[in-house]
Amino acid sequence: MARTALVTGGNRGIGRAGSEALARRGLAVVLTARDGDAARREAAALRGQGLDVRGEQLDVTDTASVDACAGRLAADGVAVDVLVNNAGILLDVDGPLLRTDLDVIEANIAVHFLGAVRTCKAFVPGMLARGYGRVVNVASGWGSISDGVPGPAGYALGKAGLRAVTRKLASEVRGDVKVNCMDPGWVATRMGGSGASRSPEQAADTMVWLATLPADGPSDGYFYDRHPYDW
Ligand SMILES: NC(=O)c1ccc[n+]([C@@H]2O[C@H](COP(=O)([O-])OP(=O)(O)OC[C@H]3O[C@@H](n4cnc5c(N)ncnc54)[C@H](OP(=O)(O)O)[C@@H]3O)[C@@H](O)[C@H]2O)c1
Repeated sequence: MARTALVTGGNRGIGRAGSEALARRGLAVVLTARDGDAARREAAALRGQGLDVRGEQLDVTDTASVDACAGRLAADGVAVDVLVNNAGILLDVDGPLLRTDLDVIEANIAVHFLGAVRTCKAFVPGMLARGYGRVVNVASGWGSISDGVPGPAGYALGKAGLRAVTRKLASEVRGDVKVNCMDPGWVATRMGGSGASRSPEQAADTMVWLATLPADGPSDGYFYDRHPYDW
């Protein structure tokens, strides 16, 4: 039976491209978005291309929303084998740490850090129970610890936190469950802008690779274009 992948922020950008690429790879995809109508619309468009995609409302900052999505899937007998934590925000008021309002930093932590913790808590226990799972966390070079966390403070701290979530969870899982992190690079999406050097499809390649790693593949790693890099 095909594995099932759940993608957050799947309605546009890298999440949309990743959802399509995962489905083309033969996975059943749960394309989620905080706007349920947008999720269902994009899923329907992909189903129209013969792909196995279901749309679901899921806001990573809202525990009730995540739990409700998990409940609907469980009621339909859908087990999530792959979790792609892709949802992200980039606020134009974000900047240097000491000049960025706390609410901006909190908003970033809510999506990039706590959002991933929330979805992992909802879906990784099932992976552990079944003995198989892949978690793909979409981080950013701007959150690189080894490069000095160079991005705008809220975004960079949230993404640095996502790296920490990756390492912490990777240290706790067992069986054929792998937890990895990736940097998609500078990608032409609403977030990256039209001048970005990479396409969403290019970014989705590493996402699919990590989502479908074999049993002897890596875990607790950070990758760019399938190559490992320092945290
Ligand atoms: N583009 C780049 O150059 C770049 C570089 C490094 C890392 N990244 C990361 O790659 C990921 C995808 O980014 P992108 O470039 O595709 O950006 P995007 O086009 O702006 O898409 C962001 C996605 O995240 C969703 N989202 C935001 N808040 C959410 C929430 N609370 N719950 C669920 N979904 C939420 C958005 O939904 P709405 O449509 O409802 O807003 C949208 O689907 C992000 O994590 C981003 O930080 C991007």
